[in-house]
Amino acid sequence: MQPTTFDLFADNEPVQQPRAEQIGEQSWVLRGFALPQVEQLLTELEAILAAAPLRHMVTPGGFSMSVGTSSCGQLGWITDRSGYRYSSVDPLSGLAWPSMPAVFADLAHEAAERAGFPGFQADSCLINQYVPGAKMSLHQDKDEKGYAAPIVSLSLGLPAMFLFGGFERSDKSQRIPLLHGDMVVWGGVDRLRYHGVLPIKPGHHPLLGERRINITFRVAGDQ
Ligand code: SIN
Ligand code: FE2
Repeated sequence: MQPTTFDLFADNEPVQQPRAEQIGEQSWVLRGFALPQVEQLLTELEAILAAAPLRHMVTPGGFSMSVGTSSCGQLGWITDRSGYRYSSVDPLSGLAWPSMPAVFADLAHEAAERAGFPGFQADSCLINQYVPGAKMSLHQDKDEKGYAAPIVSLSLGLPAMFLFGGFERSDKSQRIPLLHGDMVVWGGVDRLRYHGVLPIKPGHHPLLGERRINITFRVAGDQ
């Protein structure tokens, strides 16, 4: 007699919705939400980074950021000695940022909708690359023109420990592990929460190697 096997992909299996974890009144982690699109996302990402390479930007205080940064979409977040701001041109090339691929815009739109923010249309997409040891100190995303739209974040590659805090830098933070394909959406009453990333631990990811890529989608210009 043949051993019994379970057909995991039987036609009558209910389609599994990716798991959503609530981390604030209007904040969600969407586990594995981007996994079905990862291949397309990585192909587009490679083209973007060929046109607008990652660079280590300098903060107004004169420190070089540990993450390598680039952008796509109408507006890209930049920092230099004169401050933090959004720019419609890449200061490295003097050209417009690469346009936002439809697979990026659609994924961000769907994630926002799943988290209770329908109609999200990002005009800015910030790409941060973390190699082991790179981190992001606690900060608020507040350089956008308005805060009506949520922040939508996509994590790829090595895992990270995301810190999701309160409205003061000194407030206690939740520690949330973020894995390849996870998305986080925070908006509404949670839009200005402090957040950051602990130093990335050494490791190797089968698709991305020794790095983590985080992409945040925002509405930075007119809402
Ligand atoms: C950010 O706050 O821009 C990055 C968050 C992350 O890397 O998960
Ligand atoms: Fe941020």
